[in-house]
Amino acid sequence: MFRKTISAAIAVAALVAMPSLATADADGAKLFKKKCGVCHSTDAGKHKVGPSLAGIVGRKAGTVAGYKKYKALKGSDLVWDDANLDGWITDPKKFIGKKTAMSGKLKKEDERKAVIKYLKGL
Ligand code: HEC
Repeated sequence: MFRKTISAAIAVAALVAMPSLATADADGAKLFKKKCGVCHSTDAGKHKVGPSLAGIVGRKAGTVAGYKKYKALKGSDLVWDDANLDGWITDPKKFIGKKTAMSGKLKKEDERKAVIKYLKGL
């Protein structure tokens, strides 16, 4: 009787733990930290070499308050949807067609997807 209860508890714990291991979020967060975190914070108002990326998805490019170092994105007409973000992080310079201080690139599509998903959750 006691044993059965324990194994049931373990089974439930495993079920609860599994989805969080399987989602792309974990990867996205890790990739972000590794590939973007040097230049970008995810705290609103905290800027590094690049602007804070808190709430960036759906926002007009080059408009984060308090960040003064925009170059290529200044005055652009872009809005950060999935497609634009994907193009930008594939190759910022090629995407915008101008010189930019952003050098972060993600070559793999699944990595870009994971990072974009992560950005959406900020
Ligand atoms: C070497 C520093 C650096 C790295 C690494 C970097 N960025 Fe950037 N990022 C910048 C700079 C600088 C800008 C502003 C670009 C400009 O205006 O020319 C920027 C701008 C952006 C913007 C647009 C922000 C806005 O306000 O419109 C997004 C989105 C972004 N970066 C995402 C990323 C992601 C995702 C990664 C990782 C894959 C990344 N960046 C890696 C420096 C960096």
